[in-house]
Amino acid sequence: MKFWAKKNISLIVSGGIAAYRACDLIRTLRREGADVAVLATKSALEFITELSLQALSGARVNSDLFTPIQADGMDHIHQTKNSDLLIIAPATANIIAKMAMGLADDLATTTILAYSGPILVAPAMNSRMWLNSATQRNVAQLKKDGVQFIDPQSGSLACGEEGEGRLAPIAHIVDAAQALLTPKILKGHRLLITAGPTHEALDPVRFISNHSTGKMGWSICRAALNAGAEVVLVYGPVNLEPPLGAELHPVTSAQEMYDQSMTAWDKGCTGAILTAAVGDYRPLTQQTDKIKKSQDNQQLTMELTVNPDILATIAAKKDGRVVVGFAAETGHAIERGREKMARKNCDLLVINDLLEADSGFGTDTNRVTILHNSGKEETWPLLSKDMVAQKLMQNIATLLNTVKKNG
Ligand code: PMT
Repeated sequence: MKFWAKKNISLIVSGGIAAYRACDLIRTLRREGADVAVLATKSALEFITELSLQALSGARVNSDLFTPIQADGMDHIHQTKNSDLLIIAPATANIIAKMAMGLADDLATTTILAYSGPILVAPAMNSRMWLNSATQRNVAQLKKDGVQFIDPQSGSLACGEEGEGRLAPIAHIVDAAQALLTPKILKGHRLLITAGPTHEALDPVRFISNHSTGKMGWSICRAALNAGAEVVLVYGPVNLEPPLGAELHPVTSAQEMYDQSMTAWDKGCTGAILTAAVGDYRPLTQQTDKIKKSQDNQQLTMELTVNPDILATIAAKKDGRVVVGFAAETGHAIERGREKMARKNCDLLVINDLLEADSGFGTDTNRVTILHNSGKEETWPLLSKDMVAQKLMQNIATLLNTVKKNG
């Protein structure tokens, strides 16, 4: 089942130029399966129409405390009654100030005050308004009260100025919302995650690599962060925006990935999930000049040497910590996976067969078989990589807690 299926989200849209981006947020959440009930402030409706919000959310949108939709007139109570989460996006300096003061002078603020569940605020405003000490004081107060923020980003603003104040990307708001709703089963753990491919240079312009895009590793990273873990992400060259909240170590070669991973492993990680497609071999010598093609050179032979194995080295220094490997196979996946698991000594091995449709490199989905060191094996149906990652976190939490108890 999708994470967002059966989740009830209340969204309050307040009055700034970024109000139009609430449309994208509503569409994204609904596409993921959530129900979204929208409420707009009067000033939000100066920027975007009620009809747009209604069409996208599939429900009536109210903005006036004294023109209720509910028969008993208690819209501010009913709006969020069954809500799993209340999101305020975009949130203006004005609504943030009112929230910090506990003011309730319209439908939006009475609704916020009457809500006792988790709240996520995504501010958007001019950078001087955002950086104003009054706004920062209000934000600090709300954070102290347990309200979560997804801070605005820097960039060009609607007023033509450059600075901090742009509404966070919709994908980040959705990630932050998911994090808020995910039980913190990995709280107190620090996980090393490797992701993406490596580039093994032949000369200054060419390299040996593979088709890994980093998607699987990114899903694992997000799921671990959402489950409350600290994450050290060591990743090869990918075209993805780094996940918010992870300690990032971009690398290029397998040797660099090895060095960064070993440093992280020796600095207090309690577990490792190695999804990277690490180059097994690298050219024995790297040419300093571009290798030239010549008439005499119809064939080119190149000597390769083996790279250090991060997974095997980490697993050899486990000391009661949990190590999870991935295996990319092309046929006989389970037999080869079993052999790999024994050789590399990991606690869990996630096997994906690259020959299977919609699995492996570059896809948003994966069909995996999980080998446990207890001998148990489970094959999961085709799932989104995000869902594979979420299910895996449950397995890892169980293992980490078992190790803790036995330790
Ligand atoms: O990035 P995507 O496009 O989303 O694709 C995802 C994926 C297919 C790359 C991913 O799901 C996957 O299978 N990752 C492992 C790829 C791999 O290199 O498998 P392997 O069977 O060669 O290696 C086994 C394990 O040893 C892996 O955990 C790997 O990270 C690790 N390893 C391998 C070689 C090496 N020198 N050091 C390592 O740590």
